[in-house]
Amino acid sequence: MNNLTQFTAGITILEVTYVIASVFFILGLKMLSHPLSARRGNILAAFGMGLAIIATIIFHRKDGEPIKNIPLILAAIAVGTIIGWVIAKKVKMTAMPQLVSFFNGMGGAAAALISMMEFPHVDPELIEKSGMANGEVLAILLGLLIGTVSWAGSMIAYGKLDGWIGDLRIKSMKWVNLAILATLIGLIAFVMTRDVQSTKELTHFIYIIFSIAIVYGVLFVMPIGGADMPVVISLLNSFTGVAAAMGGFLYNNQAMLTGGILVGSAGTILTVLMCKAMNRSLLNVIVGVFGGGGESNIAAGGSIKEISLSDSAVLLSYSKKVVIVPGYGLAVAQAQHICHELDELLEEKGVEVKYAIHPVAGRMPGHMNVLLAEADVPYEKLIESDEINPDLPGTDVLVVIGANDVVNPAAEDDPSSPIYGMPIIKARDAKNIIVMKRGMGKGYAAIENLLFFNDKTRMLFGDAKNTLQNLVKEVKSL
Ligand code: TAP
Repeated sequence: MNNLTQFTAGITILEVTYVIASVFFILGLKMLSHPLSARRGNILAAFGMGLAIIATIIFHRKDGEPIKNIPLILAAIAVGTIIGWVIAKKVKMTAMPQLVSFFNGMGGAAAALISMMEFPHVDPELIEKSGMANGEVLAILLGLLIGTVSWAGSMIAYGKLDGWIGDLRIKSMKWVNLAILATLIGLIAFVMTRDVQSTKELTHFIYIIFSIAIVYGVLFVMPIGGADMPVVISLLNSFTGVAAAMGGFLYNNQAMLTGGILVGSAGTILTVLMCKAMNRSLLNVIVGVFGGGGESNIAAGGSIKEISLSDSAVLLSYSKKVVIVPGYGLAVAQAQHICHELDELLEEKGVEVKYAIHPVAGRMPGHMNVLLAEADVPYEKLIESDEINPDLPGTDVLVVIGANDVVNPAAEDDPSSPIYGMPIIKARDAKNIIVMKRGMGKGYAAIENLLFFNDKTRMLFGDAKNTLQNLVKEVKSL
């Protein structure tokens, strides 16, 4: 009796804890939507996850038995925590997308492993009652498929973002990928319609699905490159969430289910937003078709014109409206603080300064927002590209700091360009353009940028931080 009360109470406490953990996840996610509250949101969600893990270890019961192997579980948690902590502390802000891809891939792999472990153990009574076509088998197979694709795809994305895997583009890739996807769905349907006594008889199918899903994950990410990576990263993120939610169904675990659904739905919303920002179709993303698909036809022409620091200082100080376009190079140079100092200095002189923020500037969603929030740039000064574009013809000076692809007119002019169709910041509409970068290096999409050869453009070469420091001195001396 005592055991039964403890057992019942234990389950109840566990369920209540899962609901509390889920509330922390939801609040955390809400707070992540603003740079000022994002850090607290992250801590809150992590606290919820910690709570769910501790409660599971203490209160979970299977057939009345508590969890075994607790020392092993604690050791695994300790090892994972130390590795995660060290990597997260050491990683450079600009290498964050690689890290996100890697961690995301680990989530997918965990979901796939759960499926592989659980498939042979589906309750034979359940199979006798409802056959293989029951929810538990479906959750396992979908968790395996989606988790594996997410793991394999994320590892390729990681390699691409880190620069050691290139793009592989074959014309018929779309059809190959569609055929593989159809085979995977067919295999799942085949397994679910078998007439068997136990899933153990079908375990080899699990390995076949796993292997083909790896091939699909690799092939669908391989052709993606250039400016399209952000879309695929958010799609893979949503896959991991859905795969984790399958685990939640399987174990009837509310925290896992809510966490998975939150990641899956947030990732899906982000994917849709990214598709819109990049002007791409979701179906094409899923079968790995991207961009103009080729090399840009536009060759660099004309000459570039440079501008001196003192001329830049005069031009900026005597302007009415200045728009700054931050990009990846600003993050590399860690020039956000000095950039804000310049903007404050100009505002003291009566110049109106705003920032044009492109949705995929930098190397992760919201990269520029986070970077500029770190330097205390007021949030109201950050204007989305589609909102600021109509103001650019009335802008006296547009200052591009370490940005390239997001201001590249090839996206509008060159149908063969891999970034063709991507909405850009229409920098060339401004009256004057100053571009700060170290040299004539290309951007992430590795294509030429004719903005740099535009008549209205002046190049201010050098590392963004050094250049801005010297520019601030010049402006102060005027
Ligand atoms: P990019 O097109 O990558 O261009 C950055 C430019 O910064 C380079 O041309 C480089 O030229 C310059 N640069 C590098 N270090 C610098 C430094 N220390 N000082 C001054 N300039 C420096 O950047 P973007 O315009 O922000 O575009 C982002 C690209 O990354 C897009 O193609 C986007 O699709 C892709 N991407 C984005 C994400 C997300 S989610 N945001 C994720 C993955 C990929 P120099 O070498 O001549 O200095």
